[in-house]
Amino acid sequence: MSKKRVLTGYRPTGRLTLGHWFGNLLNMREMQDDYEAYYFVADWHALTSDWQDTRGIRRFTEEMVLDWLAAGIDPAKATIYRQSDVPEVAELTMYLSMVTPMTWLERVPSYKEQREQITEKDLGNLGFFVYPLLQAADIVIVRGDVVPVGEDQLPHLELTREVVRRFNNQYGELLPEPQGLIAKEGARVPGTDGRKMSKSYGNAIYLSETAEESAAKVMGMITDPARKLKTDPGNPDICPLQQIHKLVAADPAEIAEWDRCCRAAECGCVAHKRKLVEDLNAYLAPFRERRAELAAQPGYAWEVLAEGAKRVRPEVESLMRDVRVAMHVDAG
Ligand code: TRP
Repeated sequence: MSKKRVLTGYRPTGRLTLGHWFGNLLNMREMQDDYEAYYFVADWHALTSDWQDTRGIRRFTEEMVLDWLAAGIDPAKATIYRQSDVPEVAELTMYLSMVTPMTWLERVPSYKEQREQITEKDLGNLGFFVYPLLQAADIVIVRGDVVPVGEDQLPHLELTREVVRRFNNQYGELLPEPQGLIAKEGARVPGTDGRKMSKSYGNAIYLSETAEESAAKVMGMITDPARKLKTDPGNPDICPLQQIHKLVAADPAEIAEWDRCCRAAECGCVAHKRKLVEDLNAYLAPFRERRAELAAQPGYAWEVLAEGAKRVRPEVESLMRDVRVAMHVDAG
């Protein structure tokens, strides 16, 4: 039996964090063995929201690919490519736009939310409006079977399915309907200030930063805010230090001991921070070594992307030929 095709894309908006590691990368690495994995850099999607400053896009694309590769995403198993290297994606987006009522796009929850909440960027552009349709084209064009998504992306997938059905009703059963797969709940990683780890909060630990940078961040982390003195008992359940430590501990058995001694006010947060620095840097050392090796080969990430594009482009051609004929753009 042939493997199902899993597809996922990420916008290149910066280096990946420890949050991405536990939230996505481990899952992506696992899925490349069980599925035919298609992992792509959604650089056009980055343009839709960041069109006023696009200068970082190539650098972030390269960094993201290096982060993927260093994390063990293997180009021999997974097809790694860049959205803009498959220009037929734009063509298909345009065809899909013909069967998509504007009201469907207006109703997408993430669209409404982001228009309301993001005030520092101008998101009144058409490109941002068609974001979900571009995503639909990404999925359909490579006949993605399974799309692992977080809750917030589910409406995009539902829209994809609706658009596919409407297209197929109009022009004949041609486009495959993808399945959403609620991504296995990755561990939620708190940032150094206790909020969700995110680049935009400035509380992120980057996979590719140096051990010294990580050490400085960990030493500055907040712990249980109610624990003012070492002699106050603490609550490790709300301590971001303990939560991260659980994920990276060299010896998981030690976690119970830190938990106990924190509650009993027998050990201090500074000692615990020092231990986390040690364990975190040891945990990330193999990634960082590999990342440095890859980064030392100029152009390597771009070669991987070019290789991926070479695999994807001929594949999408047959579907696009059928689409053009079905819509009577081309003769059959
Ligand atoms: N919308 C996704 C995000 O914001 C990125 C994305 C673009 C995507 N195209 C996709 C995800 C296709 C899955 C499938 O992260």
